[in-house]
Amino acid sequence: MRSDLSGFYKKRIDERIDILRDVAGLDDDDILHFKTGGVTLDAADAMRENVVGLYSLPFSIATNFRINGKDYLVPMAGEEPSVVAAASKAAKMAREYGGFAASSTQPIMIGEINIADPDPESTTVIEAHKDDLLKFIDECIPSMKNRGGGARDVWAREYACGMGNRLIVYFSVDVRDAMGANVINKVAESLSALVCSLVGGRANANILTNLCLKRISKAKAYFTEDESIIEGVLNAQLFAENDIFRAVTHNKGIMNGISSLALATGNDTRAVEASAHGYAAYSSFYRPLTKYSMEDGKLLGEIEVPLSLGMIGGGTNHPVARIAIEKILRVENSQELCSVAASVGLAQNFSALRAITQEGISKGHMRLHSKTLALMAGATPEQAAKIYDYYKDRESEISFSNIKELLKHMRDEGR
Ligand code: HMG
Repeated sequence: MRSDLSGFYKKRIDERIDILRDVAGLDDDDILHFKTGGVTLDAADAMRENVVGLYSLPFSIATNFRINGKDYLVPMAGEEPSVVAAASKAAKMAREYGGFAASSTQPIMIGEINIADPDPESTTVIEAHKDDLLKFIDECIPSMKNRGGGARDVWAREYACGMGNRLIVYFSVDVRDAMGANVINKVAESLSALVCSLVGGRANANILTNLCLKRISKAKAYFTEDESIIEGVLNAQLFAENDIFRAVTHNKGIMNGISSLALATGNDTRAVEASAHGYAAYSSFYRPLTKYSMEDGKLLGEIEVPLSLGMIGGGTNHPVARIAIEKILRVENSQELCSVAASVGLAQNFSALRAITQEGISKGHMRLHSKTLALMAGATPEQAAKIYDYYKDRESEISFSNIKELLKHMRDEGR
């Protein structure tokens, strides 16, 4: 499957769906799910509480991604315009240099057990019983162990607070293709009684941490040799490294891409966001998750981010998410999915930095907005696409009244 579908965005929706039917092998049921959003009111009622309706969002495809030598069409869900265009543009630029090189560690998640008023020296006791605790964890989750996952480590630390002495017992588990929250919470709740029998005290809270420090994804790519873009992006990087206000927005741009992919694949976007921002602040001050440098006259972008995207269980059972994972992305495991997400985050960031240091972010936004205004003025999708083309490099002229006039001319000329 090739992802360099040039001009994909200029097609009508039905034409795009037909292309996707061919390249991703979609069947009529899949297309129906796309058209209806995938969830019925009854299904929604079973998913969440107090349901009174459905809430739909655009489901898009970012093109041009080539990662570790393999082409990917990237499903993205979300409301914000220009995100999918920006990801596709950066991926097209990176493709010129071979695309992205990405990797992800084993899918290891961490859980925490917080014990109030433990016996003295409890950290040493936990260390001494580590093998017993690891064995207990594996016995809690036999099917995970059978799939090649299971317990990986146990460690502890103590702290004193206004309410007395406290112990935190951390444990890590390889959760394979799951996001891991259910597995970790199940283990934490079972393990706490054993921990208390070893160190005394009372279990106060048993829960997963979303800061998945042992589940790290990295991606890198060359983007351009254009000196003006390189200078702009390097400056923008230093801006983010020296100003937390900028760093937060810089990382927000990264998450535009990662969260859109997370949502499209039925993953927990809040978990993914929390982990990324926690990691950004982990080394004592909040920093950008990407970095840029010059290598052989080319701009090299790199990203490192903890990601816990799963491909089985929970929201990934949403019919559209299943199509996204199995037929569009065609990823074989959660690590591959996380490597795609890291690449999308880097692409998104590069495009934003390029735009804000070159023509400004509003230009691209305004041009995309011209399409919306054209449709509001009564244009057909074909006319809206022509109006979008017309406004390339004429963004300052975009207004509802100008578009209505342009549309009138087009109609008069039979276009
Ligand atoms: P352009 O120069 O008009 O694009 O950029 P192009 O003509 O060079 O086209 C190149 C490729 O981009 C196309 O290849 C498409 O893949 C894609 P082709 O198909 O022609 O072979 N592309 C599009 N895909 C879908 N729909 C489109 C479209 N146009 C091009 N309409 C673009 C236009 C919007 C991409 C550019 O202006 C851009 O990258 N802008 C940045 C937009 C952005 O970053 N948006 C994120 C939201 S803003 C935000 O919240 C984050 C921020 O605050 C973060 C931060 O501050 O760091 C900015």
